[in-house]
Amino acid sequence: MTLEIDQSVPSPDMFADTDFAGAMSLLKECVGGSTGESLLIVSEAEQSGFYDEQAPKQAAAAGRALGMVVYELQSHSFVNNESEKNLLLKSLTGFDHIVFFSRVGDQIRFSSNNALPSSTMCYALNREALNSSFGTACYKGMQEVKVAIDQAVESATEIRVTCPRGSEFIGRPDWGKELPADVSVKRFPLSVPRPVTANGFIGRIALSRFLVGTGSRHYDPYCLLLPNDVFACIANGRITDFEGDKSDVKRVEQHYLLVAEKFSIDPWCVDSWHAGIHPGCQFETNAESDILRWSGTAFGNPRILHFHTCGEYAPGEISWTVVDPTVYIDDVPVWDNGQLHPERLVHGLDILRRHPNLARLFENPAREIGFSI
Ligand SMILES: [Fe+2]
Repeated sequence: MTLEIDQSVPSPDMFADTDFAGAMSLLKECVGGSTGESLLIVSEAEQSGFYDEQAPKQAAAAGRALGMVVYELQSHSFVNNESEKNLLLKSLTGFDHIVFFSRVGDQIRFSSNNALPSSTMCYALNREALNSSFGTACYKGMQEVKVAIDQAVESATEIRVTCPRGSEFIGRPDWGKELPADVSVKRFPLSVPRPVTANGFIGRIALSRFLVGTGSRHYDPYCLLLPNDVFACIANGRITDFEGDKSDVKRVEQHYLLVAEKFSIDPWCVDSWHAGIHPGCQFETNAESDILRWSGTAFGNPRILHFHTCGEYAPGEISWTVVDPTVYIDDVPVWDNGQLHPERLVHGLDILRRHPNLARLFENPAREIGFSI
C-alpha cells in the first residue's frame, strides 16, 4: 500500500464559502483538538464510491481555522492483510490526533495498539451528512445518552428484544469476568452504545432483506440477499439452527461457511449486538442499491439494531439487521418500535433538559433508513 503525506496550505476561501458546523463539532467536541496540535486527516478516494472529498476537506480547513497543524493523507479503502495493517499503523504515529474519512479506520478500530494517537472514525460520509443534524447534533449530549444506556444495560437483570417480523430475544448479559474494553477509536457522530454481549441470551432473530459484512474485513460476496425471512436460533452466543425455506437456509449456511473459511474463524459465533442511538442518522437512497455505504452509516439510526456474528469477536464479519426493534431494559421499552426514548432512562430527563436541541431531535427523529416500509 502506498501512502503519501502532504502538508496542506490553509485555504481561507473555502472556509469562507462553506458551512463548517459539522467539522467544527467533530474537531472541538469529539476530537478535542486545540491550537498548535497536529491533526492528520485520512481520507479515501471519492472514486471508490464511499466518502465524498468535501467532508475531509472541510475537516482539514476547520482544523487550520482552529490553529492546528493539519496533514492530509489518502489511504486505500481496505487493508487486506496483517502486513498492510501494520504498514498503515506505522504511518499513523507521531500525530496528536487522527480523523478517518476512510474505511481503514474501521478496520483498525478494534486493534489494541497503544501507539495509535487519539483517533476518530467519521461516519458522516459526505458534506451534507456532516452538516445535517447527524453531524451537528450536540456531541456531549449524545455522550451522556450513550453513558446512560451503557449503565442501564450493565445493571439490567433482564433485556428483551422484539421486532415486527417476529424476533424474540431475551436474557441477562453475561459479561464474564469483566466488561470488554470499548473500541480504541472514537466515533463521530456517536451512533451506537457499547455492544451488548450475546452471552446470557436465548431466542430467534428474523433475518430479513440481506446479510451484510460489518466493515471489519472485506470479502466477496459482501452481501447475501434474502428473498424470504430466515430465523436464526441463538443461545448463549451461538447460532444453534436456522429456520425457514430449505433453500434459503442452505444459502445462508453456505454463506457463513464461505466467510468463516476465508478468515479461519468460528462461523456460528454471535458476539454481541446493539441498536442505533442517533436521531439525526438517516439514509435516503435504497439500501440494497448502495449496500456498502448503507452498512457504513445507517446502523446509527434507532430504527436499526444489528448483531455481530461469524467470528469470536466484535464486530464479527456478518451483520444481522433488525428493523424497528423494541428493546425492553427491565421491562422499560427504551427503544419502542424503532424510536429511542432517552427520557425513559434513569437521569434521561435531566440529560434532555440540559440539551434542549437534542431533545427536540429525539422527539422528531429521522425515519429514512433505506427501506420502503
Ligand atoms: Fe456494531
